[in-house]
Amino acid sequence: MRKKVIAGNWKMNKTVSEANAFVAEVKDKLPQSEQVEAIVCAPFLHLPSLVEMAKGTELKIAAQNMHDQEHGAFTGEISPTMLTDIGVTHVIIGHSERREYFAETDDTVNKKVHAAFKHGLTPIVCVGETLEQREANETKNHVASQVTKAIAGLTDDQIEKTIIAYEPIWAIGTGKTASSEDANEVCQHIRETIKAETSVDVADKVIIQYGGSVKPSNVDELLSQSDIDGALVGGASLEAGSFLQLVEAGLNE
Ligand code: 13P
Repeated sequence: MRKKVIAGNWKMNKTVSEANAFVAEVKDKLPQSEQVEAIVCAPFLHLPSLVEMAKGTELKIAAQNMHDQEHGAFTGEISPTMLTDIGVTHVIIGHSERREYFAETDDTVNKKVHAAFKHGLTPIVCVGETLEQREANETKNHVASQVTKAIAGLTDDQIEKTIIAYEPIWAIGTGKTASSEDANEVCQHIRETIKAETSVDVADKVIIQYGGSVKPSNVDELLSQSDIDGALVGGASLEAGSFLQLVEAGLNE
């Protein structure tokens, strides 16, 4: 049985003091269970205090991006070693907003995924199609190609530890959720793609999340699907009560 991983992606929201107040409120209310893992993906500036506050609790703290190099002349960037030095455990790689607004490509995603594993960080790799691609029936091919390129050159051991987040771009922040069946079909296809690259054993272990307008009212149905192992949540993760409800939903499946 795969555990459920619920990650809140705050994007560029909350001040440091608002973030600290959120973690102070949720950290001791999270379920103590192997069945579900709770992660908050916060802006870089917030990470040191959140990691400190989350120590000894069930909450994991993730970054939303990083550079693939350890150090150097890359003004404004944050390296994997800077993240691990302060105790960050996970990092989102290749979110569609990074791909769209910051010119990230499948190649940069692959480099960052390798860098994450080199430094002991767990990557949450985002993939997903545009509305045009969905309407042109290109979803499965596009997503499979993104996954294949993201994991290229990884060992089986690394692939089974990679978290994939399937986030259809048209469902992000729009209130439109993919139907649970449609979302599951793509997540199944992602697992098949990984199986073709590795083995059934490896593919069966990979955590595949769904993201795109997930909220307490639709999370149960999404998580009840065979190949959806969690959620990457934007808007509905910003409020402590709603985040706790999402995490608790992971216990019901
Ligand atoms: P929303 O949950 O706000 O649609 O955002 C999804 C997302 O992009 C999470 O990474």
